[in-house]
Amino acid sequence: MKAIILAGGNGTRLYPVTIPINKHFLPIYNKPMIYYPLSLIMLLGMKDVIFIVNPGDLTDFRKLFGDGSHLGMNIHYRIQEEPNGLAEGLVLAEDFVSENGICYMLGDNIFFGHDLVRHMADAKIEIEKRGGAYVFGYYVKDPERFGVVEFDDNGNVLSLEEKPKRPKSNYAVVGMYFFDNKAVQIAKKVKPSVRGELEITSVIEEYLKQDKLKVKLLGRGFAWFDAGTHDSFLEAGEFVATIENKTGLMIGCIEEIAYRNGWIDREQLKRLATSLQKTQYGRYLLELVE
Ligand code: G1P
Repeated sequence: MKAIILAGGNGTRLYPVTIPINKHFLPIYNKPMIYYPLSLIMLLGMKDVIFIVNPGDLTDFRKLFGDGSHLGMNIHYRIQEEPNGLAEGLVLAEDFVSENGICYMLGDNIFFGHDLVRHMADAKIEIEKRGGAYVFGYYVKDPERFGVVEFDDNGNVLSLEEKPKRPKSNYAVVGMYFFDNKAVQIAKKVKPSVRGELEITSVIEEYLKQDKLKVKLLGRGFAWFDAGTHDSFLEAGEFVATIENKTGLMIGCIEEIAYRNGWIDREQLKRLATSLQKTQYGRYLLELVE
């Protein structure tokens, strides 16, 4: 399975900060926001990633990630001309989606939790074996900001709604989706929503209609941030700083993961670390080398 990371959009909810810069480059504590979803893909063992980016941001993304070979990865890019919505990302990456399906991540979603990668691996295996869609729900106080999933008393999914005015539950669908390769054709048929976007929720709804949707709840012990607003952005940064400084271990450190995965050797890690050595980030990597 390969992965798509959506990193386009105008970031209007972070204005004026994001007038001159794409939000995915903003620092969540000590590294760019986009490292966090990328690191999860890497922890899942996926080397092939495609970033969906705005036309004006391609050069900067290339500056940051190149073709991914320095991490032992294959990184590709597709341009999204206008921020038409999440479902369009699937269509833009059509030729990239393999028979095994696709993992689709939102570039501004930050996750942390014990066994998170195991949950993701379960989703990946399920889609590779049986197809369908596999998404995750998370209890929030402000469901009207998100895609919302409603359950019956037995935990069966009843409905999905994008940013409902009157949410039917407190469970948001987080920005980490696993789909079989039918998702592309489904996404092609999606019509713009009231807010004028091609919603990923419409894609998931279609799987629900076909009885091919699985929703797993991420309960206590998981932290999830959609870092696309000023408050959640700050919250996410504070969270990462607290965990990293308490444990002495980094979250979302892509060079470390590439090394531990065996995708790069010690010499390459040393080269990457040396170029960052003025920072705590670089010193962390140098310690790893030693
Ligand atoms: C998007 C999705 C929404 C999902 C959210 C998670 O919202 O449309 O269903 O719950 O991401 O971050 P957006 O970021 O486009 O407002």
